[in-house]
Amino acid sequence: MKRTHHCAQLSLTDLDATVSLLGWVDTIRDQGGIIFVDLRDRKGVTQIKLEPRDNTQLGEQLKQLKPESVIGITGKVTGRPAGTENGALPTGQVEVDATALEIFNISETPPFPLDDAGGDKVNEDLRLTYRYLDLRRPKMRRNLQVRHRAAKSIRDYFDQQEFIEVETPALFKSTPEGAREYLVPSRIHAGEFYALSQSPQQFKQILMVAGVEKYFQIARCFRDEDLRSDRQMEFTQVDVEASFVTREDIYALFEGMLKKLWRDVLDHDLPTPFPRMAYVDAMNRYGVDKPDVRFGMELVDFSDTFKNSAFKVFQSTVAGGGVIKAINGKALADLTQGELKSLEEIAKSLGAKGLAFIKIEGGEWKSPIVKFFSPEEKAALSEKLGLEEGDMVFFAAAPWDKACAILGRLRLEAAQLLQKRGKLTVRHDDWKFLWVIDFPLMSYDEGQNRFVATHHPFTAPVPEDTPFLDSNPKAVRGQHYDVVLNGMELGGGSIRIHQPALQKKVFEEVLKIPADMVESRFGYMLKAFTFGAPPHGGIAFGLDRMCALLCGTTSIRDVIAFPKTQKGQDLMAQSPTPVTEKQLKELHIAIVMPE
Ligand code: AMO
Repeated sequence: MKRTHHCAQLSLTDLDATVSLLGWVDTIRDQGGIIFVDLRDRKGVTQIKLEPRDNTQLGEQLKQLKPESVIGITGKVTGRPAGTENGALPTGQVEVDATALEIFNISETPPFPLDDAGGDKVNEDLRLTYRYLDLRRPKMRRNLQVRHRAAKSIRDYFDQQEFIEVETPALFKSTPEGAREYLVPSRIHAGEFYALSQSPQQFKQILMVAGVEKYFQIARCFRDEDLRSDRQMEFTQVDVEASFVTREDIYALFEGMLKKLWRDVLDHDLPTPFPRMAYVDAMNRYGVDKPDVRFGMELVDFSDTFKNSAFKVFQSTVAGGGVIKAINGKALADLTQGELKSLEEIAKSLGAKGLAFIKIEGGEWKSPIVKFFSPEEKAALSEKLGLEEGDMVFFAAAPWDKACAILGRLRLEAAQLLQKRGKLTVRHDDWKFLWVIDFPLMSYDEGQNRFVATHHPFTAPVPEDTPFLDSNPKAVRGQHYDVVLNGMELGGGSIRIHQPALQKKVFEEVLKIPADMVESRFGYMLKAFTFGAPPHGGIAFGLDRMCALLCGTTSIRDVIAFPKTQKGQDLMAQSPTPVTEKQLKELHIAIVMPE
């Protein structure tokens, strides 16, 4: 079964050549006894002309043929008659006049159309159940190719930079302080478990102690999190660690990687260095630590304006240590009642008591609260938000972090509503990278009544802030950085703690992990650090997220060959499933079903 050409190859230069092609039947058209088949392989499509008239065997074969059947043909390349050429196809000037047809397999009728437009309209569950058909669609095939090229570009880059790829175990030990883990029961050690590695974090640090100096890995990671369009239970990181580096070295290294990647995959020149934004500024201006800076509508603080306001809600919020923030939903005064209601629901789900707004229509400020505002307050709003006819202002009066979160989310929702109305254009290929830096090292977890690491507990504090670890942990900044692209956190990392005493102090005194647990979970790491740990740092990137952005899709499921659904299921192979009593017994496991 040899093909002489692939299905995107033939052109007028091949006229009169005898060729053999292999592939799938994309379409079949019967034009008055002459059958036209579009034959598709992984490269493209070629039109085949089959004339059963004087060939009874061919006639019989063609009767059985159905779309998606697998065939091989042999025939002669001819020019298409004038007027029937297809300019949209690379092979559109020619067709193959087939003299022999071999049918390898007749296909059942697929449960959904396999062209891009048709396939996009069907329910994703159906696509995932028949993933092998879904992946035949040109768009999905392209996504897999982009992912391959991205991985190759990344490997080549790190190789050029003299990094080596080292594989680390998926079966690791359970350690606290990260996302929820998947546990794997040990057959040999009854009652004991491995955890699937959430990331190679600890191994890559140990590799630095081992003297590797420059490590990278395209690594599979496992986290038992609620799944979303940008989250899977198993996903892939581009994971990197290097010794004797500063934050600046990591920024430059990764900007170089991304520049090459965008050049290799999209032939696009990314300007570097990327802008940097302090965490506090990102929160203040965009309400999130992963700002989408492709459009404005920035958050503005009016706490000072309203601290003595006649509107008691605002006045008392400021008096209680909270803030008043607002955004101008530019030209969004035509919001429907339903849209307004759903924005209010979103605000409430984030802890808002209500959603104060001002609509500017017919030269008038329409709002239940505007009667409380003084002329000075109105002037301040008007000036700082640049208010005009048709605008819509949203307020959040709450503690700082809550107010940021509420308006940060409303800003994104407003942008979507504006896009739907054609009043705002946000292009997926308007590549707005930035580094978010100067994160707090710790944040206080009200539920647990203790500090938790903002990034992870191995992150080094900014040296000049280290003395405050005891007195004021909140004020200590971490040497942590995130790369953000168009509102998505693409990657994050940090310079690590390499002094065993400081690491022990962070575990025990700041994070308040009991000493015996520190010893049992991280003891090996603290010990390794006593044998000459170099200063080191690194970063990890979500390869799935990066590929989704490169492919212009919003769901990472579109760039993963076999993803899980939002409910963590593999619809094609049908997992998870129960297992046999025998298997459970071997693993010393008894199932207790929930009530
Ligand atoms: P972090 O937890 O920030 O850092 O993860 C790094 C990047 O991995 C991607 N990512 C995910 N992608 C898909 N599905 C998920 N469930 C998921 N979770 C994370 C994101 C994220 O930015 N060891 C550290 C890195 C370091 O400090 O070097 C780490 O794992 O794009």
